[in-house]
Amino acid sequence: MARLESRYVCGTCGATSLRWEGQCRSCGGWNTLVETAVERKPAAARGAPLAVPPATRLSDISGAESERIVVGMREVDRVLGGGLVPGSLVLLGGEPGIGKSTLVLAVAGAIAGSGDGRVLYASGEESTAQIHLRAARLGLTGSGAGDQIDVLAETAVERIVAAAEAAQPALLVVDSIQTLTADELDGPPGSVGQVRSAAARLQALAKEHAIPVVLVGHVTKDGSLAGPKTLEHVVDVVLTLEGERFSGLRLLRASKNRFGSTEEVGVFEMTGDGLSEVSDPAAAFLEPDSLGSPGVAVACTLEGSRPLLVEVQALVAPQVHGSPRRTAAGLDGQRLALLIAVLGRRAGLNLSSHDVYASIVGGLSVAEPAIDLPLAVALASALRDRPVLSGTVLCGEIGLTGELRPIQGLDRRLREAARLGFTRAIVPTRSGRGGDAGEAAQIELVRVATLREAVAACLAEARDRTAIAVGKAPVAGGVEA
Ligand code: TYD
Ligand code: MG
Repeated sequence: MARLESRYVCGTCGATSLRWEGQCRSCGGWNTLVETAVERKPAAARGAPLAVPPATRLSDISGAESERIVVGMREVDRVLGGGLVPGSLVLLGGEPGIGKSTLVLAVAGAIAGSGDGRVLYASGEESTAQIHLRAARLGLTGSGAGDQIDVLAETAVERIVAAAEAAQPALLVVDSIQTLTADELDGPPGSVGQVRSAAARLQALAKEHAIPVVLVGHVTKDGSLAGPKTLEHVVDVVLTLEGERFSGLRLLRASKNRFGSTEEVGVFEMTGDGLSEVSDPAAAFLEPDSLGSPGVAVACTLEGSRPLLVEVQALVAPQVHGSPRRTAAGLDGQRLALLIAVLGRRAGLNLSSHDVYASIVGGLSVAEPAIDLPLAVALASALRDRPVLSGTVLCGEIGLTGELRPIQGLDRRLREAARLGFTRAIVPTRSGRGGDAGEAAQIELVRVATLREAVAACLAEARDRTAIAVGKAPVAGGVEA
């Protein structure tokens, strides 16, 4: 019979060693040895003739695997692409304290309450009493869902797998992967070898019994912790829960999804009794108090198919010492540096001797190019110390010559901005069809060709508004001439 043993295997060249060493003896790589379970086959098995595996004709494979288990939480189903796929392994990552355990318990409760079957909730982090406390906050203990959830405080992956094989639950939750240990390895829980081995066992369980498995994994701010990064290749879906720990809003994103889009986001709010789904996500990130201050611009971003209005804030201050600081939160730091250079060279706004801070309000991070224009205008507004005209939203990508590049989904963005009471949108000249967009959205459309024009259109004094010289004169109702 094959026996599992622990070996240290080099991740670069595959050489094995009996004990851990800092440098691989074979290829000389540093820190490449990872504890791994290897199968020692008895001598007889090694010489055995190879059995030819039967392949299945593509058209004979049933598509039943793609039937989904609808969770019943709108925002979660949206991000998953319509529900959980049986037999899939889902990793939920996020910083400690962000609300992962709360979210998975709510998912467990939703599935248990829907009558799809029992849920096995295995936790290596918390005692059953602690899980009961959280379940009480979520209102699961007094409900029928509570009767359908089995809680297991356990860290040995073999025992969790055995419990799941016996119970055949509709969902297995494991919180967290970093606490699990596999029998055959000696390394501490959370080490690369342990995490990889535990994930492989759960992956096999999921596939063999068609049980969806949700794994919780911690990630630090720089995403460096062993585990989630190693795991991304093994699992089918990677979800991340993000947000500022001290603000209530949480975003759920899929960074990998074998069964759906990776662009959709779910928006939640952490409340006293669990994570609640936000009823109007588009408006959730706006803070009416700070609108109208210098350095603030409202962006209309598109996350997947969902428009979100977000506030970009910038602060510029004379440089204190050394080289000027550039600090970005929720924005790409490289992009910030580039826009500062474009503002200086193409719009006559020099920030080279200023410290610059820029952030997105509400803990959201935005990576799409359309955030360029609102960010650049927020910087200009901060430098000139003049507010952006009220009721204005912006979106547009900025090129190196200061030209505005077209963006995707203008219609959807404009409709949402108008619904939330914005009256004026500054957009790139060549964006989308746009003509009907403004009309449908009942919003004044100001099309600009360059960053310089955009700054002039946004920061003009109210009395100068009629004199704004932009590429094409805005037409009331937004219908293009
Ligand atoms: P938790 O789910 O334990 O985070 P994670 O598993 O990601 O480490 O929740 C973290 C925080 O959420 C905790 O500080 C308390 C807070 N919280 C609420 O505000 N309301 C609630 O109903 C619950 C259960 C937790
Ligand atoms: Mg937790």
